[in-house]
Amino acid sequence: MIEVSNLSKAFGKVKAADKLNFSVQAGEIFGLLGPNGAGKTTTLRILATLLKADAGSATVNGFDINKESEQVRTSIGVVNGGMGLYDRLSGSEVLYYFGKLYGMKRQAIEKRILELDELLKLGDTLTRRCGSFSSGMKQKIVIARALLHDPSIIFFDEATSGLDVMARRAVLDFVKNYPSEDRAVIYSTHVMGEVEELCDRAAIIYQGKIIAQDSTRALLGKAQASNLEQAFFTIVESSGLVPAVEASA
Ligand SMILES: Nc1ncnc2c1ncn2[C@@H]1O[C@H](COP(=O)(O)OP(=O)(O)O)[C@@H](O)[C@H]1O
Ligand SMILES: [Mg+2]
Repeated sequence: MIEVSNLSKAFGKVKAADKLNFSVQAGEIFGLLGPNGAGKTTTLRILATLLKADAGSATVNGFDINKESEQVRTSIGVVNGGMGLYDRLSGSEVLYYFGKLYGMKRQAIEKRILELDELLKLGDTLTRRCGSFSSGMKQKIVIARALLHDPSIIFFDEATSGLDVMARRAVLDFVKNYPSEDRAVIYSTHVMGEVEELCDRAAIIYQGKIIAQDSTRALLGKAQASNLEQAFFTIVESSGLVPAVEASA
């Protein structure tokens, strides 16, 4: 569902994405694992057509990110940790607002909200003002907003940051159950345990480069590690990019 070929982006001297190659199949949760500043958000922003790559190419849901950005955008939903809700609007007002932006008709939005309520247990987040929400309630509306137009692909970018234990668990369980034969997820995080739990395959990204990419199990095996955190450090060290001390996120 996603094919990325030699994708590159620099900000001045910083190579935020350096000749990235990966693909994501339908039914898959693909992890993008790396410390802060590794280039995860940059990569996702390029794939979401919010940022232009300097070089390379990619297709998302079969659409070219440069030539068919409109179709790419309708194929994806983006969930990040930033929230960005309007405090004075209720959850359902937020969803109507964004539904209109997506060009959806009122009835379609209404119907979709009922489905999302069932899926995400939105409860009174629909009627209460966002300003009064807990972080977990906010994140539910952010996820609902990303799913409003029923995208085939969702990007989760550090989507559990700032959430309490319960809310984090709800997000992880939701992600786990989301993929189906015509859906896929890219799950970007610096939290190894989340990749270990959720992802079928993952790319380890460091200083804009993919330094390893494989099934989560194979990544563990390759580094002869019992958990992904151990594997991560072994792989970063053996990549020869920098001393291991700097690798901690
Ligand atoms: N708009 C920008 N302008 C300048 N530098 C940026 C910008 N966005 C990201 N960077 C830099 O690119 C690198 C990768 O950042 P980012 O993609 O946000 O990493 P991550 O999401 O993995 O934490 C970092 O060094 C960051 O400072
Ligand atoms: Mg980021």
